[in-house]
Amino acid sequence: MGNLEKSVGILDSGVGGLSVLLEIRKKLPNIPIHYIGDSAWCPYGNKPAEQIQARSFAVTERLIEMGAHTIVVACNSATIHAVEALRASYPITFIGMEPAVKPASKLTKTGTIGVLATEASIAGEKFHRLLQTHIHPNGLKVITQHCPDFVTLVERGVLTGAEVEDAVSRYALPMVKAGADTLVLGCTHYPFLRETIQKVVGPSIQLIDTGEAVARQTASILALDRGHGEISVHTTGNLACLEHLFPILCPSLSANLAEILIT
Ligand code: DGL
Repeated sequence: MGNLEKSVGILDSGVGGLSVLLEIRKKLPNIPIHYIGDSAWCPYGNKPAEQIQARSFAVTERLIEMGAHTIVVACNSATIHAVEALRASYPITFIGMEPAVKPASKLTKTGTIGVLATEASIAGEKFHRLLQTHIHPNGLKVITQHCPDFVTLVERGVLTGAEVEDAVSRYALPMVKAGADTLVLGCTHYPFLRETIQKVVGPSIQLIDTGEAVARQTASILALDRGHGEISVHTTGNLACLEHLFPILCPSLSANLAEILIT
């Protein structure tokens, strides 16, 4: 790691974490970034906790080999099931992300919030601790919904149109009908569907995600934004898919795209 330029590593089960990369690049235009999307194992959201943890460790190892001295776990499912173990195992900084239940609890007027997240995140103990801290003591109500089709749509690069609207109607409209005025986008894939989600649920519903807050935290931890601004995006899946998706998801960025094998 000695000769490598210091960089930020970002990991996700697939291309969802690119929504976080976009926010980080706005705040840190110069620092080199290595991103690994574990698309060969996507989705994490329906996998057992041990498997999510094992993949998070394998991907982290590779980011460290690439020179990452700070790693953003840009995946709620991996944060919930692996970030504590990662912190206990490596002497570098890990920044995690979890569904924005705390800000939602402050914003709701109806007292009901909806959390859209993966099945793994919703089942995680760390998520239940969040509810015990910010929801139950305040007499608030939470409705959870896992949204596997959202991840599939984003991994296909389908961000708008009838298929997305149909999925939003199935996942999010029942929450709104049950009184939720604030919806948490608790998976890093979902912000790519924000425009369509907002269109379907209507303008009075607040949508919250944590990408910008995580980028702010990353910038404050790093203090120095030094480097030549290179971005490399690696996929454990198919390079042709990534070459198709990257310009759709990150039209403002250029990056070196590559396939990587992580067993
Ligand atoms: N993007 C991920 C998250 O934030 C996981 C999506 C998935 O692989 O199921 O939870």
